[in-house]
Amino acid sequence: EIEQKVDALLAKMTLEEKVGQMNQYNGFWDVTGPSPKEGNAALKYEHLRKGWVGSMLTVRGVKEVRAVQKIAVEETRLGIPLIIGFDVIHGYKTLSPIPLAEAASWDMGAIQNSATTAASEAAASGINWTFGPNVDISRDARWGRVMEGAGEDPFLGSKVAEARVKGFQGSNRSDLGSPLTIAACAKHFAAYGFAEAGRDYNTVDISNATLYNTVMPPFKAAKDAGVRTFMNAFNILNGVPATGNSFLQRDILKGKWGFDGFVISDWASIREMIAHGYAEDGAEATLKAVKAGSDMDMESHLYIAELVKLVYEGKVDIALVDDAVRRILRVKYELGLFDDPYKYCDEKREKATIGSKANNESVLDMAKKSIVLLKNENQLLPLKKKGQKIALIGALADDKTSPLGSWRIASDDNTAVSVLEGMQQYKGNELVYEKGADLTVGKTTFLDELVFNTTDRSGFEAAKKAAKEADVVVMVLGEHGFQSGEGRSRTNLDLPGLQQELLEEIYKVNPNVVLVLNNGRPLALPWAAENIPTIVEAWQLGTQTGNAVAQVLYGDYNPSGKLPMSFPRNVGQVPIYYNQHSTGRPINSDNNVFWSHYSDVEKTPLFAFGHGLSYTTFKYGIIQLDKKEYSKGEPVKVSVDITNTGNYDGKEVVQLYIRDIAASLSRPVKELKGFEMVSLKKGETKAVTFTLTDKELGFYNNEGEYLVESGTFKVFVGTSSNNVQETTFKLR
Ligand code: IFM
Repeated sequence: EIEQKVDALLAKMTLEEKVGQMNQYNGFWDVTGPSPKEGNAALKYEHLRKGWVGSMLTVRGVKEVRAVQKIAVEETRLGIPLIIGFDVIHGYKTLSPIPLAEAASWDMGAIQNSATTAASEAAASGINWTFGPNVDISRDARWGRVMEGAGEDPFLGSKVAEARVKGFQGSNRSDLGSPLTIAACAKHFAAYGFAEAGRDYNTVDISNATLYNTVMPPFKAAKDAGVRTFMNAFNILNGVPATGNSFLQRDILKGKWGFDGFVISDWASIREMIAHGYAEDGAEATLKAVKAGSDMDMESHLYIAELVKLVYEGKVDIALVDDAVRRILRVKYELGLFDDPYKYCDEKREKATIGSKANNESVLDMAKKSIVLLKNENQLLPLKKKGQKIALIGALADDKTSPLGSWRIASDDNTAVSVLEGMQQYKGNELVYEKGADLTVGKTTFLDELVFNTTDRSGFEAAKKAAKEADVVVMVLGEHGFQSGEGRSRTNLDLPGLQQELLEEIYKVNPNVVLVLNNGRPLALPWAAENIPTIVEAWQLGTQTGNAVAQVLYGDYNPSGKLPMSFPRNVGQVPIYYNQHSTGRPINSDNNVFWSHYSDVEKTPLFAFGHGLSYTTFKYGIIQLDKKEYSKGEPVKVSVDITNTGNYDGKEVVQLYIRDIAASLSRPVKELKGFEMVSLKKGETKAVTFTLTDKELGFYNNEGEYLVESGTFKVFVGTSSNNVQETTFKLR
């Protein structure tokens, strides 16, 4: 039925109106105010009234959205409603943890629920489309946008992609019609996470093996979960910008995968093909983008300027335009915008939903699940609840903005619960707070380059005094929330500013330090890993940060998170990832220097992918296979018993990895192919069984064909990628 409606509408549209649907503008004036008289904003306004705008982004709030929608619906010839896009990356106004942190939960139910909460808040505010999830796999902690993804692994990344798409859109296509869901967008298609040297927007140069086996799977998982839009990427791939890349968008996405939603460009990425040296001018960029399957132009202002002419000149086939418009209209119909263009514009709902108690509870739940206990020697944690003197140190402990993280356009500064506020709720102890040193100097907004304090140590002495007099010192250190995210690449992965110095000074006067890290990417902290007894990875956890951290520190929540990215020993190891290939010289077998290693540091990571502790301990039984040989297509059953051997109830993420020992293409030394979270009471034992099928045992060759090859496989089960037991089986 939708297809007939789309066709009927398409038949009525002029070429200009069709191209208008392919045009997206950023919010351009306070819509509810006086209309703009001149400049860019006036032009956009005029285009909107003519029906030359199909979508807007960053317009938000019921009042504003209603105002633009009213122009589209009531003032244009055909009254086609706008689709309203927004970067709902980790919550809308009530923020959940940054996506990388959420991935550390390995809890797909919680992640889906978090996206559902975000969708319902955004939808209550007039928005019906998010530019998420970001499903870019990245192995490079220097790249600031690792905070937006699910880390380094395609298997975990695929599961997270599926959970997020279903969370935003619902589990079935028909759920999109609900006023509580919004359309999702898998981005950035493709390989953006492989920017050379971790510098944002930089050249990507990867093998087909990496493209098919590492980059593509989460996109495919998003597609299979029903994602209705894709966003292309800023980078080139094999010399062709993703935005003008027919191989990616037409051959794979719309061809092989049969994707029938639409593709939006990234911001100005059509125009940027000129800077890439792939198009002489705007007309050529438009031609190449349309031919390659970019359906909607985000803020290049080129489709609207060039496309009509290109069709009249016979350079672009009208069928390509029709195909793009059909895709866009299809999604608008699926959202129910033609039935009620104001279905997301209910002030009462907006008021009741945004910042609601239920939403705060939801993001708190997600925040606790995202925390990873990296190290806990001497059982400094959980903290005793009474009779202790606790010194809380670090500028980030008293910060209500930084923990919100990057990509939080709709939320206001100073709205997070700080760690200090969270800790203050535990009244049985004496709590003393000292900043120690400012983290940054000057402005800290989404647009600014951050400047770190490297000179003002005036707070050191007071912090040292507080530490000396305390039983336990909790230090909250790391990156500012705007130190990761788009355009935030780093060549150092240390604690910025004076934080490392402060940490070492405090440790000298009191070694009972619990280091709580706030960061949007893996950091390289070898000194801390060696000296500080307890380290908690608390990322940027969003609105409820302080409550989540305090509940974990005090043991009201037993942490169960696991790292979704390897933490390096130093930046020179990057890119470092667990699912590497073996070299020809993996070990020092000849007792000389000629093997694959570094002369100055171990080649292993500081903290491995999948690592994360609990306040309790788990013992793994012997790994069991139901057989030793299997035929292709036959399920391989792998079981293991897990026992909670410690003093707390807890949860463990049991991980399964495989290695295809010899294949027609070298396979990684380990590949995650299953994981399960088990809850165990003190003393309890449970059996966990994984089933491996052809879906897990095969791989893509360099032509993108999926192969399952016979031979010997290793299978590993354990608590992290570097703490496993193994067995083997044969596949016939
Ligand atoms: O969605 C984003 C994208 O990830 C990066 N460029 C801007 C877009 C819209 O804000």
